[in-house]
Amino acid sequence: MSSAILTNPMSSTIAHLKTQLEKALVAAFGADFAGTDPILVPASNPKFGDYQSNVAMSLTKSLGKPPRAIAEQLVQYLDVTELCSPPEIAGPGFINLTLKPSYLEAQLNAIQTDPRLGVAPTPHPQRVIVDYPSPNIAKEMHVGHLRPAVIGDCIARILEFVGHDVQRISHVGDWGTPFGMLIAHLQTAYPEALTSHETLDLGDLSTFYRQAKQRFDADETFREIARQAVVQLQAGDETTLQAWKIVCELSSRSYRKIYDLMGILPFIERGESFYNPFLPEVVEELKQKGLLVEDNGAQCVFLEGFTNKDGNPLPLIVQKSDGGYNYATTDLAAIRYRVFVDKAQRVIYPVGVEQTNHFAQIFQVGRRAGWITEDVEFYHAPFGLVLGENGQKLKTRSGEAVPLRELLEEAIAHARQDLKTRLQEENRQETAAFIDHVARVVGIGAVKYADLSQNRTSNYIFNYDKMLALQGNTAPYMLYAYVRVQGISRKGQIDFEHLGSDARVLLNEETELVLAKHLLQLSDILSQVAQDLLPNRLCQYLFELSQKFNQFYDRCPVLQAEEPLRTSRLILCDLTARTLKLGLSLLGIEVLERM
Ligand code: ARG
Repeated sequence: MSSAILTNPMSSTIAHLKTQLEKALVAAFGADFAGTDPILVPASNPKFGDYQSNVAMSLTKSLGKPPRAIAEQLVQYLDVTELCSPPEIAGPGFINLTLKPSYLEAQLNAIQTDPRLGVAPTPHPQRVIVDYPSPNIAKEMHVGHLRPAVIGDCIARILEFVGHDVQRISHVGDWGTPFGMLIAHLQTAYPEALTSHETLDLGDLSTFYRQAKQRFDADETFREIARQAVVQLQAGDETTLQAWKIVCELSSRSYRKIYDLMGILPFIERGESFYNPFLPEVVEELKQKGLLVEDNGAQCVFLEGFTNKDGNPLPLIVQKSDGGYNYATTDLAAIRYRVFVDKAQRVIYPVGVEQTNHFAQIFQVGRRAGWITEDVEFYHAPFGLVLGENGQKLKTRSGEAVPLRELLEEAIAHARQDLKTRLQEENRQETAAFIDHVARVVGIGAVKYADLSQNRTSNYIFNYDKMLALQGNTAPYMLYAYVRVQGISRKGQIDFEHLGSDARVLLNEETELVLAKHLLQLSDILSQVAQDLLPNRLCQYLFELSQKFNQFYDRCPVLQAEEPLRTSRLILCDLTARTLKLGLSLLGIEVLERM
């Protein structure tokens, strides 16, 4: 066992128990039973132990015996003494297994010195592309930009930590009609931007956008200039392209500021325009493969399994009758590029659920064209909407989407207010720098956690008070558990990194055992999230960890305990804090030493 200890403690435990059960099945009932699934599952109730095997019930027919007798016979051949207390048989024939404290102690002692906390890098690393946050640029960022950034960033962090080769690629909407208005505004209001070699200060993006929009709405001549700009852009006109580039850069810079405030890690921008040179080949290849049909002058692929209102097969337009291309064509070019140039093995699109059909359709065409084969997985990881208290899309009072900067700043302001109230109640004095830092980490952390802790696919209601509550499944609750441990180390002047080479975990109390078992599950949770891409599982794990830690800490004195218990409990505190810190960092959330 000892070689397996550092790799994924709980799954290697389960694997070992399964092997022993399989051996016992053969020893008890003969070689015919080799390969029988031992039906090992987590115990239905902790009072029955940690795991149970339900295999006896499944063998009654083939063995012609009552399940209890089967269980008794099996247990005689079952050797799990290294891991478990003697197995117990319950009810009709469940075999209950309880991990021994000494076994759990050994596991914890092993991960204590491991910076990865027992999470072994995957033996099957893949090249993965995560397509996020992929906004349509050149507008002010709004609440609709929250989820793709938060969820995409989290998925990329987890896959990378698990050991995959991750590329973060933002498929920004940087092409098409909306740009006409902005280019026209740049050309007419800031002509010097196009001739000067220095970058001109165009103010912030939202003012620039608003000015352009005002002129567009009020002035027909301006609208005509904007329409001309689109035509010139598509025709590849040099100066128009230069104007377009300036607008894209302005947008990208102002978006980056918000992503930095949110703690979204850097990603590559590979916008829709990147694929322009490949669009004619994509259409040509589809034609050669016999997938194209002309329909009212447009080039289409008729989709399998999609019908229009009249029940007829639905066409996916890849080239419009005027020769222009669209969102789907660009995405098909991206699929082809990701398979053949990037050599991706898994491509993940964390994008709103409203684009489900779009992705199903382009993936289907990608498969029929032979670009998506069995060796690559293309997966749309959909998410729901952010709603206001009224259950409708979150809007400002004037009915517009809430600007993202405002939403984040308000969360920070709420966190600051909560902190100030607490400081007053506790009669504490803190510097302005401390208050700023705590307010930002708590405010941003709360917004991200509230988003990630929901099942990704559902809508959720955005509520500052709920997400900032100190109790419940919130970021502040988790941050507080972390701070509690840092408080112990300050109070006892403990240096967790130097607890001594003979420092060992000893598990006696029930709350210690419960905490220990939970700590050992991190790697299983992470492999699961790396598979199903549901970060709420990691949130739930961290929430339960904080709860179990608090129960342990309420029951078991730490600094006041006698040695060797004192050191053992300090290790449990330290492992909890490090697990929280690692887990939160994978959600993209910072921790605080004090709050
Ligand atoms: N820009 C699109 C939008 O804002 C999302 C792009 C998602 N990625 C993709 N490859 N289609 O709706």
